[in-house]
Amino acid sequence: MIDAIRLERFKNFRDARLTLGPFTVIVGTNASGKSNLRDAFRFVHGMSRGYTLAEIIGEKYVEGGVLQWKGIRGGTREVAFAGEHDFRLTTGLRVADSRGFGSARRLEHRIQVDVADNRLGPRLLRESLHAGSSAIYDSHPHNDPPDQEGPPYLFVRLPRDYHNRKHGKRLRFLDNRPVLTQLPDHKEAKKAYRESAQACAAALESMRFLDLAPEAMKSPSLPGQVILGDRGENLSSVLQAICQDDDKRRAVAEWIRELTPLDVVDFEFVPDQTGRVLVTLIESTGQRTSAYSASDGTLRFLAMIAALLGPDTADFYFLEEIDNGIHPTRLHLLLQLIEQQARQNGLQVVTTTHSPQLLGMLSRGSREHASLVYRLEGQTAGHIRRLVDIPEAQRVLEEQNLSRLHESGWLEDAVAFAETAEASE
Ligand SMILES: Nc1ncnc2c1ncn2[C@@H]1O[C@H](COP(=O)(O)OP(=O)(O)O)[C@@H](O)[C@H]1O
Ligand SMILES: [Mg+2]
Repeated sequence: MIDAIRLERFKNFRDARLTLGPFTVIVGTNASGKSNLRDAFRFVHGMSRGYTLAEIIGEKYVEGGVLQWKGIRGGTREVAFAGEHDFRLTTGLRVADSRGFGSARRLEHRIQVDVADNRLGPRLLRESLHAGSSAIYDSHPHNDPPDQEGPPYLFVRLPRDYHNRKHGKRLRFLDNRPVLTQLPDHKEAKKAYRESAQACAAALESMRFLDLAPEAMKSPSLPGQVILGDRGENLSSVLQAICQDDDKRRAVAEWIRELTPLDVVDFEFVPDQTGRVLVTLIESTGQRTSAYSASDGTLRFLAMIAALLGPDTADFYFLEEIDNGIHPTRLHLLLQLIEQQARQNGLQVVTTTHSPQLLGMLSRGSREHASLVYRLEGQTAGHIRRLVDIPEAQRVLEEQNLSRLHESGWLEDAVAFAETAEASE
């Protein structure tokens, strides 16, 4: 689990730190930096995939010209804060102890990237991995031998106690790719170090970023495609895979009944001529609604359920604009679903929203990890502050919670939901 990320000179953050819990809500107005935070998480995730820095920030194509990875918005020119030449990201995470004691170890990974040189592309300025207070590796510049300074290599010194040498062992790495994914293959590095780097990379590998789009969710998909795309691609085949299990099929129907005004009792996956399926919701009256004509809100619920209950879930989810297209009275249930899944299956979920109202719907535990992202009038730099550190916000939320007790009943909710659903179609 990632417990903190610090952004220095990254996008619109000069120096900001976000702490995370099992469920982390980031609230902020437009252009405050919510999606820039997502970009920071995408960068650290990109590191784990063995990509070069140019690929992480730019794009990664595989054979056949297929786009495998979409980089950071704005590319190398806009990744550093206000024209700066470099940025640094520090990620704190807990990983299972490799010695099998069942306890978690806290690792901290730091990476500083130079994006000034257009000719050579982005390169590492410094990178280190720490366990507690000791460094597993650190590429402090003084490690560079005088004759081989600078690109294309980076020198990392491993602590000496493992190697019984005066200054520890110096290893050479390319400076165009995170050491994190080079170290595990370095033959001269001790097993304990390789394993720590591997554990860190593995923890960052299982991350998904959802930015759901109705067109993508309405596209038929081939049975067997069980990974939900970032925009909700493969929704139908992922749901089909979930529905193979009768208990899960019932659970999905139950959630849809709760989250939407539809009285869904079952699902159908009818293949078209190409073998692709599109999910159809069957109501108790026999009424059938395919994904083509389902409301955006319903599709979003289905996609979030597919992501969290799917056969191939990730450890970490970043959901963009969770309240988009979803009626406030239903949002409350969606948050419950997420909190429940995060708790039961040990998932970590981060979501952005521009609706402060949503904060009033969070459980006490989740509220502790909610943060506000904001920019002061006339300033470029964004700031992050935990909600619990803003006394005024607490009071407002308590009042909002009281007013929620007077909220309308199920019928009014259903009517209101149907209206917004119709309006958005
Ligand atoms: N390198 C940068 N330096 C300073 N500001 C930046 C940089 N890159 C993007 N921004 C600013 O970040 C803002 C967009 O932030 P974004 O995260 O997309 O907002 P939102 O909170 O709506 O998701 C824009 O105002 C843009 O000018
Ligand atoms: Mg955004």
